[in-house]
Amino acid sequence: MRVCVVGTGYVGLVAGTCFAESGNDVICIDVDEAKIEALRQGRVPIYEPGLEELIKRNVEEGRLAFSTDMATGIRHALVVFIAVGTPQADDGSSDLTAVRKVAQEIGQCMDGYRVIVIKSTVPIGTHKMVKQIISENTTHQFDVVNNPEFMKEGAAIEDFLKPDRVVVGCADDRAGEIVKDLYSPFCRGGAPILVMDNASAEMTKYAANSLLATRISFVNDVANLCEAVGADIAHVRQGVGLDKRLGMSFLYAGLGYGGSCFPKDVRSIIHTANQNGLDFELLKAVDETNNRQKERLFAKIKNYFNGSLEGRTFGVWGLAFKPRTDDMREAPAIGLIEELLSHGCTVKVHDPEAMEVARAIFGDRISYHQRSYDALEGADALAVCTEWNEFRRPDFDRVRTLLKEPVVFDGRNLWEPSQMGDMGFSYFPIGRPSVKHNA
Ligand SMILES: NC(=O)c1ccc[n+]([C@@H]2O[C@H](COP(=O)([O-])OP(=O)(O)OC[C@H]3O[C@@H](n4cnc5c(N)ncnc54)[C@H](O)[C@@H]3O)[C@@H](O)[C@H]2O)c1
Repeated sequence: MRVCVVGTGYVGLVAGTCFAESGNDVICIDVDEAKIEALRQGRVPIYEPGLEELIKRNVEEGRLAFSTDMATGIRHALVVFIAVGTPQADDGSSDLTAVRKVAQEIGQCMDGYRVIVIKSTVPIGTHKMVKQIISENTTHQFDVVNNPEFMKEGAAIEDFLKPDRVVVGCADDRAGEIVKDLYSPFCRGGAPILVMDNASAEMTKYAANSLLATRISFVNDVANLCEAVGADIAHVRQGVGLDKRLGMSFLYAGLGYGGSCFPKDVRSIIHTANQNGLDFELLKAVDETNNRQKERLFAKIKNYFNGSLEGRTFGVWGLAFKPRTDDMREAPAIGLIEELLSHGCTVKVHDPEAMEVARAIFGDRISYHQRSYDALEGADALAVCTEWNEFRRPDFDRVRTLLKEPVVFDGRNLWEPSQMGDMGFSYFPIGRPSVKHNA
């Protein structure tokens, strides 16, 4: 099938590449000329495990191409995906500027029937707006389908090629069948393709992300209570999660959720509820809890040093909002580093993939270290913000020697408190017993 994906970001690039991988003829379009030029030269502008090899193979096979020319993409394809960003606007709603613009351009470029698939996460009712804009710009027939994306950054290829389910929201059987056909190679293992109306598909995405965000805020508040009452969230998580009705996933205590999806999607659905005369109190609390949780590691640091932070140096391991990605959108590390800087501290950072992204945020206000241990040299303490696998088994003797004081603030509960204590560290995890030497 001939496919065009408009918006070659985390979602569009992965989707386009995976559609090419299953034999389709795909053109990925973006307004960002530097991004398209990089892709044409074989350089992948984002870090996503396995993506580079897949792109290379499909480009070589002639099934995957990149362009900034919308008309080329739209005329090429039967199915056109809209996968542009829908960032948060100032009032918490989703900014649909890019979606509107793309819809207009699609209408202007169409030269026959097209299936327009909204893959971006969009507020309920956006399909009507897209339909309206396209019909104002073309006389050709088309259908609008909603196909929300559930991939996780860091495991996006795996998620796309082996989805739990595919959601197809449409009002027309022909369009629904075309999109189902496109996805059928990924669902041979039995994953269902759920066909529903457009609004339900739009709602499904928000409901899924909000429920996951709710679990995270819930477990973080339980963790905070664990600290207050002397319980251990690691035990509680197991005791709770092994209940088959609840399950183990999304029950890790930490520094709160970040990324480009959960924060904005929770706020967007709160906004949609308001517009419809409803007050989504639960999700407001989820959002507030998450904002508080992001400040938790800094509060522990400040408390440990009795508020005297000026002139201290901190090593920070992990910048990305989660492991296996370079994405720092709404990453908890950002707030922590800004707080440390505003209190007169020196910050030395290491992340396996996100250092270039961090450089765009912090410039030369912090120092960047390719080797994790270099970020610790002469530091008053280590703060962990992302649970990269490579941090799990460090040379603790070396860590202790490099730090001025053996103090670790662990926002991701990477290590056992008792073992850290035995090795001579003062250790401050989330929701687990802390260890304080020389107290
Ligand atoms: N990142 C994720 O893990 C994820 C998962 C599920 C859903 N989503 C949703 O998918 C959508 C895209 O997210 P993303 O993370 O890929 O965003 P992104 O910012 O990585 O990519 C968006 C791309 O769209 C391009 N773009 C903007 N305006 C354009 C235009 N007029 N024409 C062509 N290209 C244009 C941008 O240059 C950018 O490359 C969002 O709605 C997001 O909520 C994201």
